[in-house]
Amino acid sequence: MNTNRTFTMIKPTAVLNGNSGLIIDMILKAGFQIKALKYTKLSTQQAEEFYAVHKERPFFPDLVNYMSSGPIFAAILEKDNAIETYRNFIGATDPAKADEGTIRNKYGVSIQQNAVHGSDSDENAEIESNFFFSSFERF
Ligand code: CMP
Repeated sequence: MNTNRTFTMIKPTAVLNGNSGLIIDMILKAGFQIKALKYTKLSTQQAEEFYAVHKERPFFPDLVNYMSSGPIFAAILEKDNAIETYRNFIGATDPAKADEGTIRNKYGVSIQQNAVHGSDSDENAEIESNFFFSSFERF
């Protein structure tokens, strides 16, 4: 298991608002290396599969609807202690509670439209990375 990698998505609202470049710039300046990057759009079925772990939650239908509503960026990032470091860097799930200067504080507009996703464990980073990238789309 690779403990120095995480998976992220830049969510539809952040892309639509033209913040993708600024967010990628923040990620690189924070010392994360991009190991894979893809600009794509999830189908409803793909969004359901990606967020399957949340399928019993009341917000699941809305989340699936939202995440399949427009293009996203998906990326694999590398840095020491990547999961924890990236989660601290992006801030709390709710942008209103995210620390000043974090990505979600700067670019998030609601819990759902919180600018970026970040994996919560090494296991999920692996699963989520494999969901988007084949072995020859990453290095
Ligand atoms: P993300 O990091 O992509 O992982 C799951 C997502 O579910 C989360 O970001 C939020 O966008 C969304 N989410 C979590 N909790 C809530 C909530 N209480 N209401 C709406 N959406 C939520």
